[in-house]
This record gives sequence, C-alpha cells and structure tokens, in this order.
Amino acid sequence: MKLLSSLFFILCFFSLAAQDSDLPNDFLPKTFFRERREKLREKLLANSVAVFFANPVRNRSNDVDFVYHQDPDFYYLTGYREPDAVLLVFKEKQNSANGTTYNEIIFVQPRNELREMWTGRRLGDKGVKENLGFDQAFNNSLFKQYNLDFSKFTSILFFNFNNDVRDNPRDSSDLYNLIAQFKTKVNYPDAHRTTLAVEPPKSNLNKTGLETIMDNLRGIKTKEEIELVRKAVRISCAGQVEVMKAIKPGMSEREIQGIHEFVFKKYQAEDVGYPSIVGAGHNGCILHYIDNYKPTTSNKELILMDLGAEFHGYTADITRTIPVNGKFSPEQKQIYELVLKAQEEAMKICKPGTSFKEIYLATRVVINRGLKELGIIQNENDKHMYYPHGCTHHIGLDVHDRGEYNLLEAGMMITIEPGIYIPENSPCDKKWWGIAVRIEDDFLITPNGYEHLSSSAPRTVKDIEAIMKLPSPLDNFILPDLDRKE
Ligand code: GLY
Ligand code: MN
Ligand code: MN
Repeated sequence: MKLLSSLFFILCFFSLAAQDSDLPNDFLPKTFFRERREKLREKLLANSVAVFFANPVRNRSNDVDFVYHQDPDFYYLTGYREPDAVLLVFKEKQNSANGTTYNEIIFVQPRNELREMWTGRRLGDKGVKENLGFDQAFNNSLFKQYNLDFSKFTSILFFNFNNDVRDNPRDSSDLYNLIAQFKTKVNYPDAHRTTLAVEPPKSNLNKTGLETIMDNLRGIKTKEEIELVRKAVRISCAGQVEVMKAIKPGMSEREIQGIHEFVFKKYQAEDVGYPSIVGAGHNGCILHYIDNYKPTTSNKELILMDLGAEFHGYTADITRTIPVNGKFSPEQKQIYELVLKAQEEAMKICKPGTSFKEIYLATRVVINRGLKELGIIQNENDKHMYYPHGCTHHIGLDVHDRGEYNLLEAGMMITIEPGIYIPENSPCDKKWWGIAVRIEDDFLITPNGYEHLSSSAPRTVKDIEAIMKLPSPLDNFILPDLDRKE
C-alpha cells in the first residue's frame, strides 16, 4: 500500500510538471531578469551585497490565504513568483567551497509532491536554474548552512522587513525563518523579531540605500516592460469601452465593476493592479472607494471608474467618469470639461525635463481658475478640498510604481489624473453637490514628448456620449432575479 501511494504521488508529480506548458509563454524572458541583476550590481558600491526577500504568504481567514503576489522588487530581479525565497546579489565575485565563483545566489522553496498537489506547481532549484537563468539556486533549507562571512562587507543592503510575516510551525524554511537566519548571519541584534527595531551603531547594515537604487532602476522601463504595460492599458481601456456601451441606470456599482473585471479576464489579465474603484454619485468623492456596494445607480448620477488590469505583473491605472444615463447634465458637463482642460494643460508640457511638480501645478492652476469662474470658490488662491490629491505617478509593477519623482525622462511610464470632488454640504451652490470627476490616463515619456497609451478609452464629453449610444454584447445577457417568488 505504501509503495502504491508513493508511486501515485510520483506519477502525479510528473504529470503536474508535464503540464507546465499550460503557462503562457509571453512572460518576461530570463535574459530580462539577468540583465536587471547586472544593472543592480553596477549600482552597488564596492564590497557590498544586496539582500531581497520574497513577499510573505498572507492569511485571509482560517486555512485560506490571500492569493499570493510576489514582492515587485523581488519579481523584477528574479521572475520568481513563489514565496519563501531569498536573493543575494554581490558587487564582486565570491568563492564557493568547490572552487568556483559566483556573484548572485537564490534560495527557493523546494519541490514537494504532496504540497504541489494541494497548492500548485513549484519551480524548485532546478526549475529556477532552467527557467529563470540562475547558476546558483538552492533549496531554502540550505540557507541556514550557507557559510558566508557577512562581516567582511562594507555594506549589506536590504529593505525593512515585512512586519506581518508569520511563522508556519510546520515549515522551518519559511520566510519567517529565512529572515531570522539572515539576522543571525549579519549579527542583527534582534534576531527573533520580524520588524527592524533600532539599527545597531557602526553597523554595515544599510536599510535605506536600496530604495534609491531600485527607484532609479525601475523608474525607467525597458522595452519588454513597456510592451507589458501597453497590454495592461489596452485591456483596461477595453473594459472602459465595454462598460460605456453596457451601462444602464439601475445597475449596481458591483455589477459595473464585474463587467470591467470580466473584460480583464477575457483578455487574460491575471489580476487587478489595485482594488477596483467604482463610485456612483457622491461615492465618487471618496478617492479610494472600494466598497462598490451601492445596489442601484440612479438615472442622474455620474459614475467614477478607476480600474487597472494587471498583466504579467504590470498594471494600468485608468479613470473614466461617465453619466449613468448616457448624457451629462449641464453642471456635470461643466465640471467634467474643467477637469479635462486641466489634464490637457498638463499634457502640453509632458516631456523630458518637465518636473513632476510642474505637471501638478499646471492642473492646479486650471482647476482653481475654473472653480472660481463657476462660483464654487471665491478666489483662485482660496484653500479648498475639491482637488485634494497629486496628479502624477509612475506605473509599472506597482500601481504607484517605484521611480524618481523629480524630472520626467524618456522611458518613464506615468499617469496624469486631475479630479474635482464636491461632496454633499460643501460651501457652494447645492447644484454642484455630489459631483465627482476624475480623468486618468497613462503615458509613456518619449525623447520628444509622450505617447498617450490610454487614448482608446473615450475621454471627451462628445465621444463618451456617442459611445454610450452603441449597443453592447451584454444587452441580452439578462439573468433571472434570484429573489423573485414564483
Ligand atoms: N488608482 C489609484 C490612483 O489613481 O492613484
Ligand atoms: Mn493613479
Ligand atoms: Mn487610478
């Protein structure tokens, strides 16, 4: 019986491995990750090592975990999408016990027939070598014995540790233990805590230097990354277009969210890059409104839809605000066109050399002037809360991506996202209350200006009203009312 069950697991193991061809083959190639590590190495100072940990598995409730998502820095340097791993990148070559040399090493979770049958395939050390281009890849159980004299380095760079890493008592090589082992190796004084407390004096431990290096690397996209963001943006625009055709007064915020996300999945986006924001009427005034629970939208409301598909790790970030009934009211139109004008003013100066601050100020000046002209504020310089956020950020592996926030440079991918939000009881005429408009588009900065990546999602009042008149494939997708009593 024992022999039979082992044979069964071995067979399952090989059949799981054999099905890896189900994976799409357009993920970033191993050459990308190897080159990124090379670029990181170039930026390290002499005699230093950079240490990265995978994201923790996070518990949702009882025995269910949240869907695993790799730490973007870890993914950027490795392509590895599993937990419980540690990567070391050295400035100089290190000597191994068998006389060879290496300048990077990764420890990953081992293959395990039973666990893979429950929770999915693992690459293991061999898979990491073959698929991700590492010469030195080991099972993470060997990290403890990894014999490296960390005291010899001038600088050991790492990020602050995640403070929600939990110990899985059944796994002595989980992230919790890998961090504790690392702390022991580098003589970190507080080896059993997961949070970094006080940095020891005169230490070679450096927990801030990596931020600058990774901002610098990730802020300028490679051609492969540009293609993935482009795809995420195309998919997200398709979601906006299909919703504009399908939306009808009475639909719930969640139903509208569902149409966007159905389109994302239809085009093979793995995930959303951030929780979808779908706010009808005054809910649009909550900048990151993700409850999306308003059961019916009314005939007169605007709906603010800020969603981004995540495709192979890269995310879009697009907002469209449309009238649920297909026609902007005069007040809605005035606010909408003011936000659009602000965005277009910013687009005029969107090119290398312009500062992030100048982009913001361009939108701010237009909005303040317009709010005064509409009588919503008394003076252009009045302090107000109608435009309470910034207007530009990098996009990429994170929706608010790493990058430098000084001057625009070719190869950056950014959003421009002005907005006006007028909650109920604001100190202005009631006719404006409940109007919330954000328009957010994604751009690639080119040597002479920009490429507008999200232009396929209608943006002007005229184009939005026109597309909303078109039929939708969902017009006939009418489901029975589950609560109706026969
Ligand atoms: N979706 C978040 C943002 O626009 O920054
Ligand atoms: Mn944004
Ligand atoms: Mn957004």
